[in-house]
Amino acid sequence: MSVNRLPDTMAASSEGSAWSPVPLAVSAERAEELRRMPCPSIVLDETALCDLELLGNGAFAPLRGFMVRRDYESVRDTMRLADGTLWPIPICLTAPERGELREGGMVGLRNVEGVLLGVLHVDEIFAYDPRGEMRALYGAEDPAHPGVARLNRRGKFALGGRVELVTAPPHYDFARLRLTPAQARARFAELGWTRVLGVHTEAHLSRVHEAWMTRAAADAEAGLFVHPAVGIGSSDDGDAAARVRGYRTVIETAYRPADAVLALLPLASRWAGAREALWHAVIRKNFGCSHFLVLPRHGQWPGAFDASSVWAGAELLEAHRTELGIRPVRCEDLVVPPGDARVAPRAHAPSAPPVGVCDEVIGPAAARSAETIPSWMARPEIVGLLRRTYRPRHEEGVCLWLTGLSGSGKSTLTKALLGPLSEFGRRVTLLDGDEIRTHLSKGLGFSKEDRDTNIRRVGFVAGQVVRHGGAVLCACISPYRAVRDEVRAMCDGRFIEVFCNTPLDVCAARDVKGLYAKALRGEIKGVTGVDDPYEAPERPELEYDSSRESVEHMVDRVVGHLVSEGYLTW
Ligand code: ADX
Repeated sequence: MSVNRLPDTMAASSEGSAWSPVPLAVSAERAEELRRMPCPSIVLDETALCDLELLGNGAFAPLRGFMVRRDYESVRDTMRLADGTLWPIPICLTAPERGELREGGMVGLRNVEGVLLGVLHVDEIFAYDPRGEMRALYGAEDPAHPGVARLNRRGKFALGGRVELVTAPPHYDFARLRLTPAQARARFAELGWTRVLGVHTEAHLSRVHEAWMTRAAADAEAGLFVHPAVGIGSSDDGDAAARVRGYRTVIETAYRPADAVLALLPLASRWAGAREALWHAVIRKNFGCSHFLVLPRHGQWPGAFDASSVWAGAELLEAHRTELGIRPVRCEDLVVPPGDARVAPRAHAPSAPPVGVCDEVIGPAAARSAETIPSWMARPEIVGLLRRTYRPRHEEGVCLWLTGLSGSGKSTLTKALLGPLSEFGRRVTLLDGDEIRTHLSKGLGFSKEDRDTNIRRVGFVAGQVVRHGGAVLCACISPYRAVRDEVRAMCDGRFIEVFCNTPLDVCAARDVKGLYAKALRGEIKGVTGVDDPYEAPERPELEYDSSRESVEHMVDRVVGHLVSEGYLTW
């Protein structure tokens, strides 16, 4: 299915493109017909939502749908579709279970609001193998890698087949910057550009980015197409909004309107290193670019930077130069010579560190710190945006998650923490298991499924508090590790796990609620620690045994930890 040579439907607007991608959107009549057709539906995850949008508008041409197994395996193993076309990244639609899904049938593709965005004609359903994909894309299964984490969340089955797009996923933010390939090509044609340099970025723009873009566009005698990826979770992501406002500022102040175009790409980045760079280039070819700027460490996740592979992306693109259909342009190795404070080619200061380092320097950490970001590194407008977006840690939200057996001291500790945290000027929300079960989780029992649901609900609320700058104290048994880790992610990592590790016999002897006595009498079953599992945290930030340590002492330790992490300050 996925490989179709596409016809030349539009005159080439740039040197690099001999053909134009065909969007998969259907007519209004067909859309109406599809809306009325009875078929099972699946709700798209964030990755699939982004992928569908780019399949639909032709940015993923020549793909015309989600991959069937032979294309998937071929892409994974050889960076080519089964027919040999260069395509480096698997594009799969997954589902947690087969349910009513049938080969030969249709599946409605919906967003969480239930809107029918498209329909998949299911050619094949196959077992999805995230492990193999992780090894091929990342060489490892490091769960901290965002690409690995995302693969771990995907479904067990993949559904391959042709897609008909009913309506593109709606965007309400920066709507005018969201160009489809056809719109981008039309814009380039209007501007009379015959050569277009595509630039992919996911960073806050430093002066070095600007220098890279300006010099490369001038060298290539091309119009500059700044095309940042704003993908997963972007509409409520302060970071993405600040980035986009920064791009707009730079484009408006540093370039004439006839020389630069800004548009947003709803890409679910995979951070697959050199493969990713190749993918970025293929996508820009579909947008009508003739040239593509390859950055140092292009496509690599910052957490896995490897000094030996700074130019791996550029090298892979150069190796495929002839068949790519877009000319890779390796960006200059620019440096900031010490004491000079102006961006210059490396020849001026061979021993200076690469200015690619700016990427880290003008990120959230720098904005949060008291130090000023030097003006040679970023425009003052960008620094201002960063400062407004990233507040110092003590103004950010944090979740203290107390986990442990019933009677282990969780509730007492949370209550004892309320006063000291308020003394530091923190607004505190308390979410206590027993209380939560009287309203938010009323009706849930103590099966694994119900406990996980309970914890996800508490986690959802905690995540909202954290996002809005509050401190939240949660005291729930939360016996299962995986769902506690989910909550950590829901709180964007601003999560401190306190393992209340009081021995079972002490908890049972206290038995404030009479729970253990009932369990011993056989009146209730499935009591955590007695005949139900408790999975201890592997690396809790703090541990507390209330049979050995006073609550006052533990409060001091928690406060000390929060101070040292920057969450509390006088
Ligand atoms: S959790 O497992 O879903 O995290 P949660 O913290 O909300 O549990 O609720 C635990 C409280 O429910 C205990 O303090 C206890 O009072 C009560 N409870 C009732 N039945 C059980 C049970 N089978 N296991 C553990 N706690 C129980």
